[in-house]
Amino acid sequence: MQVWKDYQAQHQARFLEELLELLRIPSVSADSRFNGDVQKCAEAVKQRLQEAGADNVEVCPTAGHPIVYGEKIIDPSLPTVLVYGHYDVQPADPLELWHSGPFEPVIKDGNIYARGSADDKGQFYMHVKAFETMHRTNTIPCNIKFMIEGEEEVGSANLGIFLEQNKEKLKANVVLISDTSMISLDNPSIDTGLRGLAYMEVEVTGPNRDLHSGVYGGAVANPATILAKMIASLHDENNHVTIPGFYDKVQELTAEERAALNAAPFDEEEYKKDLGINDVWGEKGYSTIERTGIRPTLEVNGIWGGYTGEGSKTVLPSKAFAKISMRLVPNQDWHEISDLFAKHFEAIAPKSVTVKVNKHHGGSPYVTPTDSVAYKAAHKAIEATFGKEPIPVRGGGSIPIVALFEKTLGLKTVLMGFGLDSDNLHSPNEKYGVANYYKGIETIPYFHQYFAEMSK
Ligand code: BES
Ligand code: MN
Ligand code: MN
Repeated sequence: MQVWKDYQAQHQARFLEELLELLRIPSVSADSRFNGDVQKCAEAVKQRLQEAGADNVEVCPTAGHPIVYGEKIIDPSLPTVLVYGHYDVQPADPLELWHSGPFEPVIKDGNIYARGSADDKGQFYMHVKAFETMHRTNTIPCNIKFMIEGEEEVGSANLGIFLEQNKEKLKANVVLISDTSMISLDNPSIDTGLRGLAYMEVEVTGPNRDLHSGVYGGAVANPATILAKMIASLHDENNHVTIPGFYDKVQELTAEERAALNAAPFDEEEYKKDLGINDVWGEKGYSTIERTGIRPTLEVNGIWGGYTGEGSKTVLPSKAFAKISMRLVPNQDWHEISDLFAKHFEAIAPKSVTVKVNKHHGGSPYVTPTDSVAYKAAHKAIEATFGKEPIPVRGGGSIPIVALFEKTLGLKTVLMGFGLDSDNLHSPNEKYGVANYYKGIETIPYFHQYFAEMSK
């Protein structure tokens, strides 16, 4: 619509400046040293929502970090879209690998470099600016509610409680989220799935204290060696996960469904080059697209133990640790998979060590229906602004709360993300394209318009 275009052209510079301002707040949810900044960020989001024209904006306290809520009810008889996003970010470390400060955003070659630029500040803020656009041009076509949380990157434990306690307030027809990626601006796509997650931490203990590796080494099991062996045994020679029962409930796709997935544009050579790898790796019998979209996986996120400081120290460590996560697909249950993992990991430990398995957070996988009004509205909105039909793609990441939106609120979700997989999410030098940011702000009002029209 021309009024949107004119409004956005006029305010373009400010839209960007405001995002940079938000990116300067280090709202790292995992690290309690940043608690004050997380709170400050919530207050900033509240203020921005109010300025954009939302009503009843509040910072809702939780047992953890707060949730920011706001709404615009133009007519209770019209459909309602619940926009979800998160203002918290992942820790920025390793700091020395950043080319500029993670919380000192810079724009270089058309990208905004900062922690949270793509995940998810740059993406949820598009919704605030799209909303402002519709509000200031008197074109809001449906009711809109905002729920921007501060604990997505640590598992959204308190958001689940918030949903239970605020069913009435959160009443809507659909959830809309921009917190995923597209193939590229030339090949727009919509994620039609998210994988689930089961996150574990393991501790392997050998002797009751660190030992001199010369005096005792060779006669006492080294927990670091044992842990490495145990971890290595979790994949077989075909890179299948070896945990008994792991694949039992995995939904297999039909040959047609797999062919459709594999038809998405993907250049494996480009992929390898971008990542600096000589070859891809993964479960035998599946393509790279399938390995990250429709297959469950197991990854070591971190492994430590013994001496890792400067120089050398000859020691046989008492303990070794690892953080291990599994990505899940329909119809795997994360509680069940966590139990299977724990049972297996304890079973494969040799007598020379003891093993403790701690279960961290988890979440269920989710697949979005593609025959819903909301999905069709997203499809049409992207087509309107990109001039190309979006390709449905199964995303590899997880947003555990999405399954709870369905379970607790009975709401389906549409994932209309504008990031790129190459945006360095959770990695040093996270970035978000300025063009992606503006394209999102341009596209979102069309979603609301089509959703309202097609719901009639
Ligand atoms: N926005 C991501 C999820 C994502 C990224 C989905 C790209 C699809 C494509 C989200 O913030 C995230 O990082 N989720 C975590 C899970 C959470 C429980 C820590 C993840 O996927 O590791
Ligand atoms: Mn995210
Ligand atoms: Mn994330």
